[in-house]
Amino acid sequence: MTEPLAISFTETDLEAVAEASGVVVVFAESGRNLGLAGRRVNRLTHGALKRAVESEAFAKLDHGSALRLEWPAGMAAELVLLVSLPRRCEVSVARKAGATIARALGAKGGLVLAESHARAAEVSFGLALRAYRFNYHSAETPAYGPVRFMANNPEKLAQEAQPLAALAEGVFFTRDLVNEPANILTTSDFAARLAAMQELGLDVEILEEADLETLGMRALLAVGQGSESPSKVVVMKWNGGAEEPPLALIGKGVVFDTGGISLKPGAGMEEMTMDMGGAGTVAGVMRTLALRKARANVVGIVGLVENMPDGRAQRPGDIVTSAKGVTIEVINTDAEGRLVLADVLWYAQEHFAPRAMIDLATLTGAVIVGLGHDNAGVFSNDDAFAGDLLKAARQEGEGAWPLPLQPSYDRLIKSRLADIKNSAGRPAGAITAATFLKHFVAPEVPWCHIDIAGVALPPTETELAPKGPTGWGVMTLNRLIADKFEG
Ligand code: BES
Ligand code: MN
Ligand code: ZN
Repeated sequence: MTEPLAISFTETDLEAVAEASGVVVVFAESGRNLGLAGRRVNRLTHGALKRAVESEAFAKLDHGSALRLEWPAGMAAELVLLVSLPRRCEVSVARKAGATIARALGAKGGLVLAESHARAAEVSFGLALRAYRFNYHSAETPAYGPVRFMANNPEKLAQEAQPLAALAEGVFFTRDLVNEPANILTTSDFAARLAAMQELGLDVEILEEADLETLGMRALLAVGQGSESPSKVVVMKWNGGAEEPPLALIGKGVVFDTGGISLKPGAGMEEMTMDMGGAGTVAGVMRTLALRKARANVVGIVGLVENMPDGRAQRPGDIVTSAKGVTIEVINTDAEGRLVLADVLWYAQEHFAPRAMIDLATLTGAVIVGLGHDNAGVFSNDDAFAGDLLKAARQEGEGAWPLPLQPSYDRLIKSRLADIKNSAGRPAGAITAATFLKHFVAPEVPWCHIDIAGVALPPTETELAPKGPTGWGVMTLNRLIADKFEG
């Protein structure tokens, strides 16, 4: 996987500032005096830094943004980055400051004069996330040079940064999976990458097509039956808690979604390599939990399939029987994600008797119509549980917004021939998808469905990710687990 940027933490050494190459970063607050390291940079630059700190331009900057002093006289650096960062600042501001540093970074790396800033670990985290670069398939993607944080207590800072580095690694794992094209990330390759996480202490089990057949997962298998790649369900267990039922995380892992016989239009179809984003997020969370040895029991279960048109592919009008026994009329083979999740949700509930379940899926275009790329859509059968999830998302700065799941929508997915149908057309498209999933969750099990179609791969860069996959949800779910599931 893509390794996060090399960040080291060392003792403050003012003598090294003049010779540092690349970017030298100074934190300052408008209206306040510079710290020791800032004063050193100011002396080296013959007063330029102080003038910048006292400027109106600096006073007007948003916290976390920066002024650039390029090719400073008196220093070996190419750039002094003057970051507006109050001593007492929110986590989000510190992460934004880190992202600002990443955007200024080049091949020569940099030196961050963190001194005793209380949020320096969060700065390093924002820096790592924004400095993600996926270069498996092109050597032309240049790498960033290493970054050194000089701090008054580097051991303490390194300790604070450790769980955040585990989180960054989880996010990177998700982003890599979403970036990989479908000829490389086949269902088998995906399963192998998950199995490799056994080295981290996760217990990984792969259910093959014959097993899924035995379990009666005809809804999931029907989606994959037109593909040369075998359908699989992968179960990842992290048992870091006491004897208690686990939290179950379920992910849609459609490695490519052509739409099947209900074929999608050609323009933009290449984006459907990201249709395994839900499974990618579940995998990233499991990786983080293992890396930081979380004190919680969590099981991650992903359904890996490819939705292809073929002589053996399922047809519109087919009726399949899910593992639960609910029969489904397949109106549209492009509404495949819910067929996969139906069987995986049921399996999670029946085999693990979870305390709670959360599924993540790039499930509908309709959620993008409703919420754009700023928020994932959150549906739940339990307001308190949804509240916890939304709070975690807010704390981590990942957009999430509640959408309704009332019984009145049930009628929209009634089928003439089977128990339910998999598509109700355009009205309330994200809600009817969630309503479909509701049939496979017992009402007494707290459950959230998160439609991440708009946030997994937004069209532009975001604060903490370059253009490409965000890894949406790894931070939120890690926070939720830390706050609500760890004793
Ligand atoms: N994978 C798509 C949803 C999607 C769309 C994800 C855009 C990311 C970006 C899903 O399988 C799908 O095709 N949904 C259909 C459902 C419809 C046929 C009821 C949709 O949203 O159009
Ligand atoms: Mn589809
Ligand atoms: Zn899909």
